[in-house]
Amino acid sequence: MKITKICCIGAGYVGGPTMAVIAQKCPHIQVTVVDLNEQRIKDWNDPNTDNIPIYEPGLSEIVSEARGRNLFFSTEVEKAIDEAQVIFISVNTPTKTYGKGKGMAADLKYIELCARQIAKVAKQNKIVVEKSTLPVRTAEAIKSILDNTGNGVQFQILSNPEFLAEGTAVTDLLNPDRILIGGDTTPEGEEAINALVDVYANWVSKDKILTTNVWSSELSKLTANAFLAQRISSINAMSELCEKTGADVSEVAKAIGMDSRIGPKFLKASVGFGGSCFQKDILNLVYIAKSYGLNEVADYWEQVIIMNDHQKRRFSNKIVQTLYNTVADKKIAFLGWAFKKDTNDTRESAAIYVADDLINEQAKISVYDPKVSRNKMLSDLDYLETRSDEANSKALSIFDNAYEACKSAHAIAILTEWDEFTTYDWQKIYDSMHKPAFLFDGRNILDAKHLESIGFIYKAIGS
Ligand code: NAD
Ligand code: UGA
Repeated sequence: MKITKICCIGAGYVGGPTMAVIAQKCPHIQVTVVDLNEQRIKDWNDPNTDNIPIYEPGLSEIVSEARGRNLFFSTEVEKAIDEAQVIFISVNTPTKTYGKGKGMAADLKYIELCARQIAKVAKQNKIVVEKSTLPVRTAEAIKSILDNTGNGVQFQILSNPEFLAEGTAVTDLLNPDRILIGGDTTPEGEEAINALVDVYANWVSKDKILTTNVWSSELSKLTANAFLAQRISSINAMSELCEKTGADVSEVAKAIGMDSRIGPKFLKASVGFGGSCFQKDILNLVYIAKSYGLNEVADYWEQVIIMNDHQKRRFSNKIVQTLYNTVADKKIAFLGWAFKKDTNDTRESAAIYVADDLINEQAKISVYDPKVSRNKMLSDLDYLETRSDEANSKALSIFDNAYEACKSAHAIAILTEWDEFTTYDWQKIYDSMHKPAFLFDGRNILDAKHLESIGFIYKAIGS
């Protein structure tokens, strides 16, 4: 089977960049990305590709090249489903906020809606690809919906989880460590797997395309995220011990990372991991383990989240304690609001929780982030529902320049590791601040000796 028409449901952080790269690398395939969110589609179609809704280095260039040629963004979901041979489901799978599994399980209502819509519209056989991150055995539920509400059409369900990280989405998609495709071991299942392998083989070498059964593929995605997050919680746990003992966490990380069995990546101590996925996927893993009665397995992974929450709170506590146990009416400047550099995504960013804690202590927060809008920051705080929206907008002032944000501040907190922060004239910033001037480096990116020589009281995670 030769694939010439693909549809992707969900034009978000995964659907948009992934389909843009498929379209760029496979000019013979027509790729249509659909979404219910009209504004999002309008933004993807903005004539100026610098205004597309997701900021990722290199993405606007790829969209410029492929959009209108073989890459299309549309709200006509049914038409796109009807025309495509392969349908990627790339919708959000957030943590449930209601009912059974509230606060733990993945909310699959958007996935189920997609399955029902595909079943309703499809008139020819289709391959349905799970691109969203899903609990193990979700394919069973999708298949059951498709087979029982459809009109005699044959569906093959593949699991093809996405491993890209935000901020490096384009390079991750162009040079993936591996592509994982899980499918049925029947002849029809193998034909579907091969069809999808052929799409990726347009730019990924075959030895990096791994095929497995569906359940291994689904569970591998949750496992990968759990292992990555676990490394961060492990080094963050050591950062607290370093602070008590005079060890330096960056030196410890370097020393252990040179062991080839451990490796150097994902050992950066921080104010805690954020992002839309680590927490939600681990909570989901914990829920799945509990639902099979595997309480020790569940408790083991839950500790990764407990440690991460502790690290965020520890950072805000440290700011309060260091500023003589009160931050009431003091100005604390935040540099960065995004959950990591090179993205405008703020989901679960540590900055939100640290700001919330400090506003509870009646601090005034001034923020500068190169890519996050004022409305986004305020809506992130409002979403926590700790206080009124009005109180949040009084407590948070947002600047479009770091020097202004830091002027007359009592302290600065680095919440995102944007490269530009390392290039600032820190002497100038120090001179404009209240004295003593404190600098809390939640990402360990600044040069302690240089800042201390200027006069800052410098505190980094783990130092
Ligand atoms: P997102 O919220 O940015 O995008 C999801 C989009 O799906 C939204 O625009 C929403 O309007 C749309 N949508 C929801 N239901 C729909 C429906 N029935 N029809 C049409 N459109 C619909 O989410 P995301 O960050 O792209 O994540 C999507 C999935 O990919 C999640 O399961 C996530 O865990 C996984 N994932 C995300 C990343 C990442 O870096 N963000 C990486 C790997 C995997
Ligand atoms: C993560 C995974 O890295 C991707 O492989 C996966 O596809 C994705 O989740 C997903 O499923 O959504 P992402 O969350 O975009 O990607 O970004 P990461 O680079 O993993 O960073 C996550 C958080 O961990 C950030 O807040 C980052 O600052 C923090 N981090 C990362 C650390 O604190 N220390 C580190 O050493 C590395």
